[in-house]
Amino acid sequence: MPLGDFERYPLLFGPSPVHPLERLSEHLGGARIWAKREDCNSGLAYGGNKTRKLEYLVPDALQQGADTLVSIGGVQSNHTRQVAAVAARLGLKAVLVQESWVDWPDAVNDKVGNILLSRILGADVQLVDARFGIGFKDSWNEALEDVRRRGGFPYAIPAGGSDHRLGGLGFAQWAHEVEAQEHQLGIFFDTIVVCSVTGSTQAGMIAGFAGQDRPRRVIGIDASAKPAQTRAQVEKIARNTAELIGLRRDLKEDEITVLEGWAGDLYGIPVQSTVEAIRLTASLEGVILDPVYEGKSMAGLIDLVRNGDIPNDSNVLYTHLGGQPALNAYSGVFH
Ligand SMILES: Cc1ncc(COP(=O)(O)O)c(C=O)c1O
Repeated sequence: MPLGDFERYPLLFGPSPVHPLERLSEHLGGARIWAKREDCNSGLAYGGNKTRKLEYLVPDALQQGADTLVSIGGVQSNHTRQVAAVAARLGLKAVLVQESWVDWPDAVNDKVGNILLSRILGADVQLVDARFGIGFKDSWNEALEDVRRRGGFPYAIPAGGSDHRLGGLGFAQWAHEVEAQEHQLGIFFDTIVVCSVTGSTQAGMIAGFAGQDRPRRVIGIDASAKPAQTRAQVEKIARNTAELIGLRRDLKEDEITVLEGWAGDLYGIPVQSTVEAIRLTASLEGVILDPVYEGKSMAGLIDLVRNGDIPNDSNVLYTHLGGQPALNAYSGVFH
């Protein structure tokens, strides 16, 4: 079925802003870099990439008669914070399973940033001791069962909204939004750089761009530190989404690119290149990135532009997916 026929519940301000990063481009001395800003795409609790994905999950939840959105993430998950905000906006309850995915020593890690916002938004925040993983979890199944036992109707939203039939649609639509903005701006972005962890952001983009006439590179930068798993998930979701929106050809292997080298050894722990990328982008552009995701994808972009892997005559679109609230748990990194 064509993408336009899927029901979409409006949660965004409209198309997210696109603007040039002139001083960063000049500093790196190569390709021209622009940003598309999912970090200011919505008025719901700072928005972000999950708010866009949820536009396609919400109609399904409402149609099923759900009264509680149940989701899962790390303690500083941006995704669960966005689920909490969307639940509030819809007048639904939210149950959030927050696992200890990151062994991060900050004393206020489970009190500030995203988890603080989720509590303010009225979600039932449940702290669980379990390690990083993007699949289906016992703790999440128990939370779903618990809602049922209490007579409620849960709607299950997996980590990052990714491993879900409709999870790729939000960013397939984003690909069309980019094309429309290109027409307005008189530009073509031949390279897209995006952070990948649970996969449906990049996967949706791949499926959406695959239906367009002019090919471009979508470069995923792994921030999970489990690149093989992330690539497999991106491929699976991209193929499912492409089929769902009626792409009449198979995706090619070279359309699925997830690069490693900037995640460090562990998800959620910034490394030197992350901190340098965050400082550089802030000092040259006044743009704030987070240490878990966007700092790592920007570190990748910086290296790829510097070493010419992204050629000097490219127009690159850096996808800013949000996530700044987590910075509050990382004050120790910046002195
Ligand atoms: C700020 C931010 N950037 C990037 C990502 C990665 O997106 P995805 O999980 O769809 O791969 C996430 C969520 O995981 C995120 O919250």
